[in-house]
Amino acid sequence: MPDQLTNSKRLWDSLMVVAKIGATEKGGSRRLALTDLDREVRDLFVAWCREAGCSISVDAMGNVFARREGTDPSLAPVLAGSHLDTQPNGGKFDGVFGVLAALEAVRSLNDQGIETKRAVEIVDWTNEEGSRFAPAMVSSGVFAGAFDLEYGLSRQDADGHTIAEELTRIGYAGDAQVGGRPIAAYVEAHIEQGPILEGEAKTIGVVQGAQAQRWYELTLTGQDAHAGTTPMDRRHDALVAAASIVTEINRIGLSVEDGRATVGMMEVGPNSRNTIPGSCFFTVDMRHPDEDVLLGMSTTLREYAAGIASEHGVEMDLREIWHSPLVTFDRRCVDAVEAGALAAGYSYMEISSGAGHDACYIARVAPTAMIFVPCADGISHNELESATPDDLAAGAEVLTRAIIELANG
Ligand code: GLV
Ligand code: MN
Ligand code: MN
Repeated sequence: MPDQLTNSKRLWDSLMVVAKIGATEKGGSRRLALTDLDREVRDLFVAWCREAGCSISVDAMGNVFARREGTDPSLAPVLAGSHLDTQPNGGKFDGVFGVLAALEAVRSLNDQGIETKRAVEIVDWTNEEGSRFAPAMVSSGVFAGAFDLEYGLSRQDADGHTIAEELTRIGYAGDAQVGGRPIAAYVEAHIEQGPILEGEAKTIGVVQGAQAQRWYELTLTGQDAHAGTTPMDRRHDALVAAASIVTEINRIGLSVEDGRATVGMMEVGPNSRNTIPGSCFFTVDMRHPDEDVLLGMSTTLREYAAGIASEHGVEMDLREIWHSPLVTFDRRCVDAVEAGALAAGYSYMEISSGAGHDACYIARVAPTAMIFVPCADGISHNELESATPDDLAAGAEVLTRAIIELANG
């Protein structure tokens, strides 16, 4: 095999073309799931995959699979990919890199005339981010049997549009069955989205697994009232109650080692400057590498929030809407990634994922692994997200080598 299988310039150029779809002023991308921009990026992705000789199938959750046939079509395929949707103020690499690294792998297999026994399928999973439709990773979740199809299709955005409606509108309501077929292995390349690789000056993160997550929705209902006439001691101010709870959530995150606790979305009603807010809705994202510690964090949240609600005379409705359990990736797949990094001569280290990824669900139905590359200052879910062409090329190179190993082994 040559020293370098992949073409780093081609990978970078493809990333920069995709970044223009929904480009933001500060250099990021805004391409929410199942919007017109998502259709545009999907159409481009499908065209590129066809040019690379792949056949396309789309399943009922809109997951797109581009298949490069193997020498034995009866064998289960190796899948590689990630997602093309972004956060509202997203960067150019979160998700996109994993999809285009898999495309670069297929293009490079073609260039090098390398055949594999198993087929290789590049995949774009629908709505990984979970910012337009909660929860995150919902379509890989349906694929892996974590959710049923009806649940997945009925997820709604803030305006009440469902995933089913939006898939039909953009022409990606496919007819392939979601999951239920054998997958030999799944490998997802991704920017780390944290500061560890950069801090340790390593090029490749050999990902061992991912931490557990719990998502909540909290609605506080007090009383709308006049800001000028209502004495301070007669108020049922939902926003003031929420402010205490938000501060406590931050404290919970700080109080346990490796804890993470975030309120990322809030809606205040009626949102009028001279009316005391009678309602406040907000979301909570809590994560920890130990399920028991995470449960403890959630118990603290419930107890504290109930106390504050009663103190302020507001009703509280607190729901857990999602639990993504702790994930440990498959040893043989992880070893294939490590072997790829070693063979290509990159520095590497073991790492655990702080972010959720489609790989977390696919690990339930197929041997799975991930490859991380560094990103500047560990910044992600931000328009300024940045990664170097060399590091991204290294990730694609390791992915290609892991795919060859898993597709022939
Ligand atoms: C995925 O983007 C996550 O929130 O971890
Ligand atoms: Mn991602
Ligand atoms: Mn993300």
